[in-house]
Order: sequence, then structure tokens, then C-alpha cells
Amino acid sequence: MKIICNFRIPILGILSIFLSGGCCLIGNKSVVKRIEHQLVKKDNIFIQAGMYPEFTVDGKWTFSMDQRPNWFAGFTGGELWLVYEMTGNDNLQRRAIAHADHLLEYSSLDNTHDMGFIFLPTCVKAYLKTGDIKYRQAGIEAAEMLAKRFNKNGKFIRAWGRLGTSRREGWMIIDTMMNLELLFWAAQETGVDSLYEIANAHAQTAMREIVRKNYSSYHVIEWDPQTGEIIEKRTHQGYAPESTWARGQAWGLYGFANTFRRTGNKDFLKTSIGMADYFIDHLPSDLVPFWDQDLAGEDVLKDASAGAIAASGMFLLAEVVDDENLKNKYRSFAENISQSLIENYLFTQSQREREEGILLHTIYNFNKGNGVDESYPCGDYYFTEAVWKLWALKGNDL
Ligand code: GLY
Repeated sequence: MKIICNFRIPILGILSIFLSGGCCLIGNKSVVKRIEHQLVKKDNIFIQAGMYPEFTVDGKWTFSMDQRPNWFAGFTGGELWLVYEMTGNDNLQRRAIAHADHLLEYSSLDNTHDMGFIFLPTCVKAYLKTGDIKYRQAGIEAAEMLAKRFNKNGKFIRAWGRLGTSRREGWMIIDTMMNLELLFWAAQETGVDSLYEIANAHAQTAMREIVRKNYSSYHVIEWDPQTGEIIEKRTHQGYAPESTWARGQAWGLYGFANTFRRTGNKDFLKTSIGMADYFIDHLPSDLVPFWDQDLAGEDVLKDASAGAIAASGMFLLAEVVDDENLKNKYRSFAENISQSLIENYLFTQSQREREEGILLHTIYNFNKGNGVDESYPCGDYYFTEAVWKLWALKGNDL
């Protein structure tokens, strides 16, 4: 087992390199203060609802009817930790801990690969911040559940569907690249090699089958779960089977950069760079992607969440790549995308009467008509993460 890096604060290594003056003010309030204010309002709405948020409709949050956590369940807790780190406001830490506490009993969820999205920003983060082993235990259990989804025949982690059922048993998706960090972290914590090996094997399969020769990506691969043969490559949330769903491309460039960070395997770095370049080459002038990278034009909607994920992923890519030119390239794209999001996609830019999310103009699922040109928790989280990285680079001045 080869574990290269530590999860804690990915940005520290480059803190001293990039400093520019001037606090980023919108109106007369800093960006961080605006986000903090909206985040507390949002958390109060969620606490009062007692349900998991899904997306906004006309700026107002809607909620899941399912009692079990959805894949968004970790994001608000995660935002609270990030904004706590930027402000030192203890109230945010208390709220973040409440989110982690709530999730403790769900570490054995058996219906999703989203264990990383749910548990990394909440229980794992709470363990790193407090040292309380109950959070560590929940994170490890969640990783073990994720590992149970590994299909040995095709060497991939099953995305959706309950363990022990056949619905979507052979589905593999690009998004899972982001959940591998939970396995790498748990492997490092416990010394259990198989957790590392499963993450590595899944990433190898994704690199070979989901990423195309030109570094664009499929969203879904359907395998025969018994023979391990590929049945079909296609999309689920993108525009067309052969197109490149912008958020999937962002998941890939971020996930492969992190997998390189954890394994040291340069093929993963090359893949992350190729995916980042493809993403960049298909950006419109404001650097925020159309929701599918095969679409363009004035009437095509943007997915600002894909921009936020890509920006955060490029901050990481800039950190892990050795070459100085590439470092500068990805760091400056990460900064410029983040600035564009701050200037044009923050809730303060809205003309609507009500706006309960943080990042505007995101698309949860275009094909289902869910959260189209609205806000949703994933967009809010990755935007906050990109701002947190920018804040660290700018000497805490944002
Ligand atoms: N992970 C699901 C999505 O990106 O919509």
C-alpha cells in the first residue's frame, strides 16, 4: 500500500506563493461575510424543515421525502466547517458538529456510492477537528460500506442501487472518483490495504473506460455485473451518450488529481491534466461552463456548480503538479473561475425577490428538470470550498 499525502489542509503547501492585496468586497461586506450570513439563514431553514434539502425552486429550498440521507446530506455541514475556518465563528462550529452528530447513525447506508460526499465533509472533518473517535468510527464504517460496492468482475464500484439487489447493479459513473478519498483516508487510518486497493482499482478502470482518448468523459458505463463485460457507455445527466457532461468532467479532473496525490501514479496525474485541459478548452468567455461541454450558445444554460468543482479541483491540481508552468496555469484558472463565480453567480447578484441558496445558475439534473438554473447543496459546497482555497492563497483576505 502506498499512501503519499495527508487529507488535512491541501492548500497549505502553496499558501505563501500567491498573495495579492485588497479585500474582495461586494457592496460594503466581504465575500466571506456574505456567505456566512446566507449559510446561517440556510442552516436555520434546514433545521426547521427537519428534512434533507434537494434544490431551490424560484429561489426557495425543496426537500427530499426520503428519511435516509441523500447525497447532499454532508454539504451544509461541510460548508459550516469551511466558513468556521475563515471566520472563527464558534456558532458555525457548533452547527457543523450537529450535522456530523446527526449522520453518525447512517454510516451503514447501503444504497449509494455517495459515502464520500456525505461523510468526508462531516464526520471525517469532525474527527480531524475534534479528535473524537466516534466520528472516526463513522467515517471508517462508511468507507467499509463503500468498499462493499466493489464489483470484482469489472473492477469498479457500483454507483447506485441497494446492495443485494439487481437494479443498476452494473452501473459505474464518473462521479465516484470523488468518493475514493474516503477509502484512501480509511486505509491510512486503519492500515487495511484492501480499502486502498479497491480505490486504486476503480480509478484504473475509470481511467481506461470512462475517459476517452481526447480526455473528454462518459458519465455512465453499464457492465454485466456477472461477466465483467461492458454493455454500454452513455450518459445519465448529460446531453447525449457521446457528449461530455460538464459536471462529470469536473468530477474527473478533481478526482484523478486526488488519486495521484494518494497513489503517486503519474498516469492519474496525466489524466487529471488532460481532463482539465479539455474542460478549459470548452469554457465560454466568463469561464463558467455550459451544462454540457458539447453545447454552446446564448440560449444554453450554464452549470456554475461544475465551474466551482473544477476551480477547486484545479487548485488541487496546481498543488500536486511539479512543473512550475503547469502550476501557474491551473492556479490561475482556478483563481479566475472562482472570481467569475464570486462576481456573477453569488446569490447577491440575484434580481429575484427570494434567494435561499449561495451559488446561482446551477443545474442539478437537466434531463429530469430538477434544479435547473437554480441553487443546490453541491454547488453551494464546492463554491465555498473554492472560496476557502482562494481565501487561503490571498492571505485570508477575501
Ligand atoms: N453525483 C451526482 C451529481 O453530480 O449529480
